[in-house]
Amino acid sequence: MKILIAASEAFPFCKTGGLADVTGALAQVFSRAEDTEVVLFLPRYRNVGGGAFSLKAAGGSFLIPVGNRVETATMSRVQWGKVAVYFIENPKYFDRPGMYRAAGGDYEDNDERFLFFSRAVLEGAKFIGFKPDVIHCHDWQTGLVPAYLRTLYRIDSFYAKTASVFTIHNIAYQGMFPKETLLKAGFSWLDFTPERLEFYGGINFMKSALVFADLITTVSPTYASEIQYRPEFGHGLDGVMKHRTSDLFGILNGIDEEIWDPATDTFLERGYELKSFQRGKAAAKKALQNELGLEENKDLILAGVVSRLDHQKGLDVLLKLAPEFLDKLQFVVLGSGDPGLADALGALALQNPKRVAFRSGFDEALAHRIYGGSDIFVMPSRFEPCGLSQMIAMRYGALPVVTRTGGLKDTVYYNGEPKDSNGFAIDNPEAGELRSVLGHIVSLFGWRENWNLMVRNAMRGDYAWGKSAEAYLKLFNIAAQRRQL
Ligand code: ADP
Ligand code: GLC
Repeated sequence: MKILIAASEAFPFCKTGGLADVTGALAQVFSRAEDTEVVLFLPRYRNVGGGAFSLKAAGGSFLIPVGNRVETATMSRVQWGKVAVYFIENPKYFDRPGMYRAAGGDYEDNDERFLFFSRAVLEGAKFIGFKPDVIHCHDWQTGLVPAYLRTLYRIDSFYAKTASVFTIHNIAYQGMFPKETLLKAGFSWLDFTPERLEFYGGINFMKSALVFADLITTVSPTYASEIQYRPEFGHGLDGVMKHRTSDLFGILNGIDEEIWDPATDTFLERGYELKSFQRGKAAAKKALQNELGLEENKDLILAGVVSRLDHQKGLDVLLKLAPEFLDKLQFVVLGSGDPGLADALGALALQNPKRVAFRSGFDEALAHRIYGGSDIFVMPSRFEPCGLSQMIAMRYGALPVVTRTGGLKDTVYYNGEPKDSNGFAIDNPEAGELRSVLGHIVSLFGWRENWNLMVRNAMRGDYAWGKSAEAYLKLFNIAAQRRQL
């Protein structure tokens, strides 16, 4: 089977969050399955290339219509294991400081940037003669690909048998633009109907995918249900979702167990595994306390956070409560995003330098050390399509403290019995509930045997991609077969 993955980010080339971990991991896992050939398309952002990867020009250029103009696309390529990665280049669109936004907010031409990318993927695949059985698209940035396949490219024989599968990583970001974007994208007004591309008078890239993709997936079973049946989770698309209910599947994300392995993690001073976690985690905690200028004290509970700073993640709730717990807990937060939240976290750290550390920005190495050195990992998300951080934390023996929503609910078990629990969970991201679970954590931490039982449960979990990758491949087959009919 020939699989084309189109995404706006993939680790290790470009990453802002879990989307990149997932697209990168899936490309690798699919490529190792039997009888598959995998090509991954990404935009060539400013900092892509260099380092371990030397990109080669893929030769030639092609033109992409954007409204009544044309824009030029060129490509470069790198072989990444069995995956051929193609980068769509256009300096005007992609050679910028950020991937989606600059300090002032989202780029105003994100519609053009990603309609250009989406169409360039379809033209690019033709250019290299890769005729996919399935195109696997991710989030709104590639939402127009399924729509193009069934409209502008409907009569293109190259794609006559190509199916599309669209994966929702976060329905809160939809790519909504005014109706003029329809023309920039090259669609006809005939497609501007509520059943097709129109959405509240404009065009919504994610909705376009939900309408036109052959099959739809999202990243956990619980989120699949939340976005259909709970309007506050569907962000206006629950109606569209329900319409496709028989074509929607929740497939739980995994993590790359090679990248996230405390036994071989070179970012840690010394590795550890299930048998040696007590010594290993104590060393990692001590090193982290020293690195960040915190009090070196094994009896304080070290609470870690590695996160986008976004309303979704509920960190404002944690921030409100943190001062109440500073006699028992230390807080380490690594994150970037919302400047207001960053300022508040920075201020708390300044007032309590021995108990709170805040590092702003994106730092892969520090992230690893936080997972390793933390006793608990706090993630009181308001919603969480899947969440990878809680799984990484569990693999590193840091007990997650989560809300029972989306993928958090599907991966973290907590029923008050340490032997059946691998973390802590609350029903709502509210100060009262979080306060009470943190209080419980403080009392349990002294009870080493029970605590260690939970850590072992967490570390033993199966977070690998195996089963989920199989589920995707099965769906790809179904989607491809449908197109053969
Ligand atoms: P989301 O995709 O919503 O941001 P996930 O939990 O699915 O949340 O994935 C987050 C991924 O991004 C994890 O790999 C996490 O370690 C990483 N991450 C988030 N913020 C940072 C940061 N500031 N520095 C380094 N890694 C980060
Ligand atoms: C999104 C979601 C997150 C999920 C990730 C990868 O960023 O917010 O919950 O884990 O995508 O699917």
